[in-house]
Amino acid sequence: MCLMNSLIATLLSVLSLVVTIEGQFNWQTRDSFDEIRKQLDKVVEDNCKVMDINELFLPQSSVTHIPDLKWLGIDPIFPNRTNLLHIHNMALSRAFYLSYILQKAPDDSEPGFMYYFLSAIADVAANRYINASSIYYGPHMAFTPSYKGFFNKTMPLFAPRAFRADHLNDPYHLEGTSTLNTIEAIDLGAIQNNSFSTNYTHEQYKINEWYRLWLP
Ligand SMILES: *[C@@H]1O[C@H](CO)[C@@H](O)[C@H](O)[C@H]1NC(C)=O
Ligand SMILES: *[C@@H]1O[C@H](CO)[C@@H](O)[C@H](O)[C@H]1NC(C)=O
Ligand SMILES: *[C@@H]1O[C@H](CO)[C@@H](O)[C@H](O)[C@H]1NC(C)=O
Ligand SMILES: *[C@@H]1O[C@H](CO)[C@@H](O)[C@H](O)[C@H]1NC(C)=O
Ligand SMILES: *[C@@H]1O[C@H](CO)[C@@H](O)[C@H](O)[C@H]1NC(C)=O
Repeated sequence: MCLMNSLIATLLSVLSLVVTIEGQFNWQTRDSFDEIRKQLDKVVEDNCKVMDINELFLPQSSVTHIPDLKWLGIDPIFPNRTNLLHIHNMALSRAFYLSYILQKAPDDSEPGFMYYFLSAIADVAANRYINASSIYYGPHMAFTPSYKGFFNKTMPLFAPRAFRADHLNDPYHLEGTSTLNTIEAIDLGAIQNNSFSTNYTHEQYKINEWYRLWLP
């Protein structure tokens, strides 16, 4: 009986809690921000692998005023878009540089594999608002001039990616503050044979749409 009473009391207090919480936000009507927030919150590390691919994308219109090369100098760039502009410029300058050097340089003076790692790391190190940078190669498109015995051979997959790893909780990091200068760089193409879920060209690998737009 006593247990029953306390159960009811708990239930009542939970109910009243729910009611107050609802009451507090009742005056706010749901808007598009709530919709986007709901979509963002729905995907977490644990369920990301089993989520439907369509749930992983936000509508195009959720970020406005994306800088566009065609409109630079014509359309004003808002102060809240300067970081996007920086990412845009960084991607373009890497693309111009690599497509130029890979066509023009003699085979044995092209950037080696290490160059790609270092340049991805530099992208992240140079701007605190960029947390990840990578270059993805299509299958059998990456050559290296720098390994003897590997000359003229291609890598099945090659995708050096750098991302900011925050090590603020590491035991050797006594202050426990974020320094933003620990960067991890790995080759996403270095996978076991026939592993579909880690193969970035495979349809089971949930990669952004741009991959299929740009690479075979
Ligand atoms: C960015 O700035 C523009 C102009 O001040 C403003 O209209 C827009 O709402 C801002 N966007 C965000 C997401 O704050
Ligand atoms: C690389 O391949 C090309 C075309 O097959 C060949 O002409 C060239 O001799 C090769 N170079 C080396 C160093 O094997
Ligand atoms: C970048 O990483 C830092 C450190 O982990 C984090 O505080 C920040 O919110 C991240 N920025 C973005 C845009 O994700
Ligand atoms: C993976 O496949 C490549 C080419 O098909 C082969 O040369 C290599 O030995 C294989 N590696 C393993 C670990 O099976
Ligand atoms: C990755 O997947 C593609 C098919 O999408 C396949 O042709 C290729 O051999 C795979 N690569 C590796 C290393 O498993």
